[in-house]
Amino acid sequence: MCGIFGYVSKNKTRAIPVILDGLKRLEYRGYDSSGIAAVVSGRILCKKKSGRIHEVEKILNNTWDSQAAIGHTRWATHGAPTDRNAHPHFDCSKKIYLVHNGIIENFRELKDRLLKRGHKFQSDTDTEVVAHLVEDFAKNEGVSFEEAVRLALKSIVGTYAFVFIHADHPGKIIVARNSSPLLVGFTDNEKYVASDASAVLPYTRKVVYLQDGEFAILTHNDFRIATLDRKAVLRNEERIEWSEDMVRKNNFPHFMLKEIFEEPEAVSNAIRGRLVLKDGLAKLGGLELVQNDLRKINRLILTACGTAYLAALVGEYMLEEYSGIPVETEYASELRYKKHNLDLKTALLAVSQSGETADTLGALKEIKRKGLLTLGVVNSIGSSIARETKAGVYNHAGPEIGVASTKAFVSQVAVMALLTLFLGRQRDMSLNTGRKISDELTKIPDKIKSILAGAKQIKKIADKYYKYENFLYLGRKYNYPVALEGALKLKEISYIHAEGYGAGEMKHGPIAMIDKDFPSVVIAPSDGMYGKVVNNIQEIKARGGKVIVVATKGNKEIAKIADDVIYIPETIEMLTPMLSVVPLHLFAYYVGVLRGNDVDKPRNLAKSVTVE
Ligand code: M6R
Repeated sequence: MCGIFGYVSKNKTRAIPVILDGLKRLEYRGYDSSGIAAVVSGRILCKKKSGRIHEVEKILNNTWDSQAAIGHTRWATHGAPTDRNAHPHFDCSKKIYLVHNGIIENFRELKDRLLKRGHKFQSDTDTEVVAHLVEDFAKNEGVSFEEAVRLALKSIVGTYAFVFIHADHPGKIIVARNSSPLLVGFTDNEKYVASDASAVLPYTRKVVYLQDGEFAILTHNDFRIATLDRKAVLRNEERIEWSEDMVRKNNFPHFMLKEIFEEPEAVSNAIRGRLVLKDGLAKLGGLELVQNDLRKINRLILTACGTAYLAALVGEYMLEEYSGIPVETEYASELRYKKHNLDLKTALLAVSQSGETADTLGALKEIKRKGLLTLGVVNSIGSSIARETKAGVYNHAGPEIGVASTKAFVSQVAVMALLTLFLGRQRDMSLNTGRKISDELTKIPDKIKSILAGAKQIKKIADKYYKYENFLYLGRKYNYPVALEGALKLKEISYIHAEGYGAGEMKHGPIAMIDKDFPSVVIAPSDGMYGKVVNNIQEIKARGGKVIVVATKGNKEIAKIADDVIYIPETIEMLTPMLSVVPLHLFAYYVGVLRGNDVDKPRNLAKSVTVE
């Protein structure tokens, strides 16, 4: 949610272009409004506007000379997405400006107190109270800007990443973090602050990740990190391994299409160096530390949100079938409030592309507090979930910028397959089964490439169907989560009503919706479920419904009953989701584009959901 950016430098001419560039890179985190504030000749100038960043760009004066500036791109929580609710927010004296990502839970109580003390508010946001709180501490306690920020932070209940500037401190920014992502990128003479690494990539690869309960004071040539109890923190710098190219569209019209075309590479990167083919084993360095603990677990809970949850659900089918461990998958948003009767032989595995999803992080912390082993499958290196778990596996899909998750899904499923091998071979899985799975896994990237080579045909099918207002997606067993993912993707970027169901459930209700205007997308590979799924297709056809079928190459029979068929190569049943999902991602993409939507930034959504 919300992207925040800060910059402090010796050079006064770079602040505005750098902040603008940073915000454009962060826009996928929220795009309800944006704003920039900068210290210019002893006062703060600020421009903010509802809508996309180009709205603020139109009214911005690029000639502002400033050493310190902040910027924000908003996903609205408290207060409508209007100009006055756009960040940065400021105090009564207009000397303290800040940007915020998170939610201040006790803002009403703080606001009431500040109103009684005469503060005047300009917005409906929770964020604005913090600017007034800092002002209040500075004035009434007679403390410095830094100390006033520290005292204000200590009074706040909630989640935040903040960047503060002060008109009387032209060469300084203060940043703070609690459960919302924040990193400091640096060179000798410039310091950058951003919600994620992709925003600082053109300027530096050297970063330091702030941790919860820490704040930092940044000048162009120095930064100091401390806890809210004033203990100095020494943190080693880390290096971002992503390249600039990875966060560019290159020749693709949208990030989403680029990322779908990166699905083969995402699987290759996930499995690279992790398979021992002759022994049918997966070698997962991130789990070495806990491999003996893993031998002892007798229950595994997978948790995640959205698309990551659906990848985890595929993982549940794999692990239950091959690892011999009872597995259940829970939405993180439910898990954190549910009683589970856990024992210490249960492990939790959190799956997240961003590693910052508030519900997943919340569930993880809750289970960790109970003393259970916690693991992660995470894409963003150094993210909160990666740091909070005891051990884990990075999926190495590279940055995913499109708000709709695509390549992360296939790479998460690839990691689930690795995990199945890893845990299965610790237990009862035979050498032959291990070899078969690992051998097939190595073939998946080329098989995905062959599906992508048929993108034009999928575009043609999208041309035929994009005006329909309702879709049913059906799949069974391993492809049940894929049906849910296909429906989720179509909803997200085309705003078409789409429902995903286990094909067997169709006759228990959804079939009532079927008519000539309600097409179905059915995943029917030639696997153990094929016969049953074909029956469902027949039932839809008998009621006048149109059917698009995803079937295994060579199945000519299906073309006789389906209205349209998309073929995928054959593989073993547990790995089909990595293939069957590819046409569904493409179909959703083309339909979204044909309906004229901004598929990279669909309405009401944000890439990383860092509020509950
Ligand atoms: O970063 P995460 O994987 O934790 O994100 C989880 C969901 O918010 C995410 O998958 C969301 O559902 C996407 N918009 C799906 O395309």
